[in-house]
Amino acid sequence: MAKKVVIIGASGHGKVVADIVIQSGDQVVGFLDDNPNLGKDFIGFPVLGKIDQFHNYEEYWFVVAIGNALIREKIVTQLYGIRWYTAIHPAATVSDIGVFIGEGTVIMANAVINAGSFIGKHCIINTGAVVEHDNRIEDFVHVSVGVKLAGTVHIGKRTWIGIGASVSNNLSICFDCMIGAGAVIVNNIEEPGTYVGVPAKRKNVNEDTIFS
Ligand SMILES: CC(C)(COP(=O)(O)OP(=O)(O)OC[C@H]1O[C@@H](n2cnc3c(N)ncnc32)[C@H](O)[C@@H]1OP(=O)(O)O)[C@@H](O)C(=O)NCCC(=O)NCCS
Repeated sequence: MAKKVVIIGASGHGKVVADIVIQSGDQVVGFLDDNPNLGKDFIGFPVLGKIDQFHNYEEYWFVVAIGNALIREKIVTQLYGIRWYTAIHPAATVSDIGVFIGEGTVIMANAVINAGSFIGKHCIINTGAVVEHDNRIEDFVHVSVGVKLAGTVHIGKRTWIGIGASVSNNLSICFDCMIGAGAVIVNNIEEPGTYVGVPAKRKNVNEDTIFS
């Protein structure tokens, strides 16, 4: 039976999540969003109200479509007693061998999740990203468009791997990192921070602009 889904976050990412819900044969009930400038509908679906009105829709499934990991985590913590929808695009390739995907995670078109990989809760595995075998991806991680994670990689909680970055096999990246667009990771990363370049090095940037 089709699931009826409320999407939190009426944004570009929310549009893509709505598309996955529909392509999966499920139904979009509407969006919850705190933006006061939104009209009555967003991409043809009702804007149902602010996020704190979630309890009016408790009979439905929920997914948080907000890219920022800290905000995603905060919202998930505030919403109690609801069911989380896991959005997997039908054109994603997910191995049947030993893969676990946590609730509320979004896996976009042409992403590949290979055998033995564990993906935590409320992650985003973006369009065309490759998660090779035996990865462990903790909660609230965002693996951006076209990222390549080689085999047996560990990504810590809330870390964001930027578009087109690559991580070599058997490496670990700790929690709360930003890996810049196109970076190549060839060593373990043990301290939270921003890492850019080939091979990637730590760079001091204003992290408020990244994580806010
Ligand atoms: C790393 C990043 C977060 C830094 O953003 P920022 O704080 O706004 O940084 P700035 O653009 O002010 O750049 C600061 C410095 O870092 C350098 N830099 C920024 N991003 C870089 C990258 N990806 N690779 C190499 N150098 C980079 C800039 O050239 C600049 O160098 P300088 O100090 O020598 O002039 C951002 O550039 C990035 O890569 N974002 C990824 C976005 C993404 O993947 N989106 C996908 C969504 S699916």
